[in-house]
Amino acid sequence: MKPKVYVTCIIPEKGLEIVREFCEMEIWHGEIPPPHEVIVERVRDKAGLLCLLTDRIDAEVMDAASQLRVISNYAVGYDNIDIPTATARGIIVGNTPGVLTETTADFAFALLMAAARRVVEGVHYVQAGRWRTWGPMLMLGQDIHGATLGIVGLGRIGTAVARRAAGFQMRVIYYDQTRKRGLEDELGLEYVNLPTLLRQADFVSLHVPLVPQTRHVIGRPELQLMKPTAVLINTARGSIVDTGALYLALREGEIAYAALDVTDPEPIPHDDPLLSLDNVIVVPHIASASVATRTRMAVMAAENLIAGLKGQMPPHAVNPEALA
Ligand code: DGY
Repeated sequence: MKPKVYVTCIIPEKGLEIVREFCEMEIWHGEIPPPHEVIVERVRDKAGLLCLLTDRIDAEVMDAASQLRVISNYAVGYDNIDIPTATARGIIVGNTPGVLTETTADFAFALLMAAARRVVEGVHYVQAGRWRTWGPMLMLGQDIHGATLGIVGLGRIGTAVARRAAGFQMRVIYYDQTRKRGLEDELGLEYVNLPTLLRQADFVSLHVPLVPQTRHVIGRPELQLMKPTAVLINTARGSIVDTGALYLALREGEIAYAALDVTDPEPIPHDDPLLSLDNVIVVPHIASASVATRTRMAVMAAENLIAGLKGQMPPHAVNPEALA
């Protein structure tokens, strides 16, 4: 008999094919994620769960699922899952690192460039029929080449962003809990503490995971350290930044611009004051959204799921100790 699994969203077919071949699959077809109580109900008789970063997988879900052996998250980030509880119950959790690094770094750079050169404002200006002539003072932005990029969190994605910056002759400074001397030498990076980074960077790009210590790591005091011309780019998780403080900083001109792939809350409500500002770009958490990358993530999530169902260590497990 095939093991029963619940999949909380339609993911690219290549991943679903693998799941179907090995499992009896039940899937949620809605575009909006299943309500929490639906997940709790549907996992009751399941041995595996393939879920998204939008699904809160907490003790209540795990309590309901006495046969659950594996949770496979279709994301590299896993702040949506209560990992200690999963580990305590011997439930292995998988994620999808690596495959989305370059795609996400491409997009972080796209946001940086769009904010620096006011691309979105330019599009709106033309669409509104306001383009009357070439103007010496029209939509002046900031140079990217020669500017200082501050990377907060030099993991895989932060490093991939640093590599791109080298091609733009940027000075790159970084802050991370751990100093990475090898990368400093290889990529010509400078290690600084967070206040120094915030004071010196023209562009600040966030690449830390969301854990209790990184929640609101960019709040009012940090924003006030930044240059009035600075641009903040967030492709990590929304609540790394205090949204209220960001709104004030942008409205008061304490920083120049923000370009956000992620928000807190997510999705950001249509009437959120942040969206009333001209100096903000918000896109709907699409940094990893290329056809190739989302397909690779689907295959990886399916492979993690199946390994877990077989009682094997998934190729990408975040809590290997769960199987100890
Ligand atoms: C992830 O995988 O954590 C990303 O945020 C998805 O884009």
